[in-house]
Amino acid sequence: MKRVFTNWAGSVHIALAIVGLPYGVCTGGYCKAINSRVPSVCTSAFVSSSAMHIKARCSVYPGSDTHRFPVPDDKVSWAADWPEYSPVNYTAPSVLKKPVWADPEIGSFSPQFNSLDGSVDRRSHEGEYTVQDDRPLNPRGRTGLNGRGLLGRWGPNHAADPIVTRWKRDSAGQRVSHAMSKLPVLQFVSIKRKDCGEWAIPGGMVDPGELVSLTLQREFSEEAMNSLQASQQEREKIHERITQLFSAPGFQVYKGYVDDPRNTDNSWMETVAVNFHDEKGDSVSELPLEAGDDAGQVSWFDVDSSQPLYASHSRFLQTVAKERKAHWCVMDQ
Ligand SMILES: *[C@@H]1O[C@H](CO)[C@@H](O)[C@H](O)[C@H]1NC(C)=O
Repeated sequence: MKRVFTNWAGSVHIALAIVGLPYGVCTGGYCKAINSRVPSVCTSAFVSSSAMHIKARCSVYPGSDTHRFPVPDDKVSWAADWPEYSPVNYTAPSVLKKPVWADPEIGSFSPQFNSLDGSVDRRSHEGEYTVQDDRPLNPRGRTGLNGRGLLGRWGPNHAADPIVTRWKRDSAGQRVSHAMSKLPVLQFVSIKRKDCGEWAIPGGMVDPGELVSLTLQREFSEEAMNSLQASQQEREKIHERITQLFSAPGFQVYKGYVDDPRNTDNSWMETVAVNFHDEKGDSVSELPLEAGDDAGQVSWFDVDSSQPLYASHSRFLQTVAKERKAHWCVMDQ
């Protein structure tokens, strides 16, 4: 089985150069308890992509002491009349400093909302959004906070999540099936966030003018490859394999709004999640990533409902498992 990559030490160091908007935010804090796990995912149908946002209403805004104006469930929709609504105006100092990935304040520039504005894609995967008083409105409704918070763009902030999978195999190269579900087990590439140690799919922000397909590959390569101590020759070989894997269209798992704790009334995260699967096990399957333990920074993890991940990532994996007829969970007793 193992050909090219046999001799590589699994020593892994990740050097994430964050030049753009930091992709994720740690779930620690107030909202963690209620949102970090999806209960009873085994029997529940795929959670509707239009479900009401919850993280986007978490009381304390990430990285700040700012508290959102509390928004009850029945007042989330913009259609619900609510004259008393008085959202807090907050844009993080890091965003106001005008880094390259951030827009200026409204008034000092004229963004073309709902369109491709120069190289910045201000279109939403959710369809046309409302612009009120020159500000775009969150398509999922109120968040208790206006301005941009930690997000750079007014309106949608586009990300991409590459979900790279392989079949789990035993030492003889045979596919491993789960003892209870009897279904073959998939494994996916996961990275450990440096800031809070949480495991996540190695996603990233779509750069202006960049095709999502390229973002998917770039993010995966950067995050998985930077971590490898490999010679130039080995790197070229991996690069070739990654390019080949990502040149296939992949299976689109999700496209749309992300319920992110950084979202505001005027700025929100959206993503495209795509599964690239190494069916035969002769491509990126052989990437020498460390086993899924605390030492590694990039690992192959079993696709299983018990894996502690962001709720949205967990749903993405559930969709992948279903599509590939793979193990996801042990049926509810
Ligand atoms: C909101 O805050 C920003 C700076 O954080 C400021 O430039 C803007 O004028 C404020 N908007 C309102 C309506 O107060």
